[in-house]
Amino acid sequence: MTPPLPKFLRPTPPRPGENGRNGDGTTTAPPKPQEQAVEGVASVVGWLDERTGASPFLRGFLYRKVPKGTNWFYTLGSATMFAFLSQAVTGVFLAMYYEPDAPSRAYASAAHITNDVFLGELVRGMHRWGSSVMIILIFLHMGRTFFFGAYKYPRELNWVIGVVLLVLTLMMGLTGYLLPFDQRSFWATVVAVNLNSSGPVIGPYLADFLRAGSEFGPTTISRFYALHMLAVPGLIAALIGAHLYLVAKLGTTAPPWLKAEKKDLLTEEI
Ligand code: HEM
Repeated sequence: MTPPLPKFLRPTPPRPGENGRNGDGTTTAPPKPQEQAVEGVASVVGWLDERTGASPFLRGFLYRKVPKGTNWFYTLGSATMFAFLSQAVTGVFLAMYYEPDAPSRAYASAAHITNDVFLGELVRGMHRWGSSVMIILIFLHMGRTFFFGAYKYPRELNWVIGVVLLVLTLMMGLTGYLLPFDQRSFWATVVAVNLNSSGPVIGPYLADFLRAGSEFGPTTISRFYALHMLAVPGLIAALIGAHLYLVAKLGTTAPPWLKAEKKDLLTEEI
């Protein structure tokens, strides 16, 4: 005997009007394909919601109140996040062709992406320019939170998470710069790693770790690649999650001029 279907797969008996019959002898037109599609999507969303309980969280997140005076400056954080997502997507496509196993292969595979792969030049260009866009946006976003006083109580932890995100974003720039392995990227990275090695206490160890030894070699490039496409973006993604959780929990700060107006009003009242 076949086991009974689970409840969510069992067809629901038609309600009056659903299968074209109204129960009083009259009939209505069958649902249009668009209506059926909408109903299908709604039932899938309902199925997921029943099992995850996501809708109260999403409703709270998407419909949360924002302070009066919220303006375009508040979009800089989301713009930074979209720059990161664009880097992640273009990076996945580059990783399909890039070969970090030996310096000569790395250079040749990067040239192959630009010259031979369909839309390779565009994707590589988006990734290269996107890295600068992300760094500009992150600084603008940091400036906004600083000048609006959003780093103060109770948002200090979110500021600290932001600082770590900034350092990690700069690390993405450093580790990515070596990967094409042309003269410029090689020598720029030699200088950057030498600068690191002159840092106090951990400097020399950090430089040895980055080089995978005391000299640049074939392992250096795979080390930079592993950091660039796995470790650092993984950390960034996790920290963006924590950052957004705190934004949703604490809400955003009102612009300083509105806070000042409120203070004036209070002083007047007193
Ligand atoms: C990958 C980098 C980052 C992403 C994706 C990101 C994303 C966001 C988003 C979407 C918001 C809410 C909307 C807004 O205020 O713009 C926000 C708020 C905030 N971010 Fe970032 N952020 C990043 C880096 C930073 C950095 C570098 C700092 C500072 C060092 C920072 C500090 C803050 C603070 C304090 C808030 C709260 C703002 C408020 O309450 O008004 N974030 N972030």
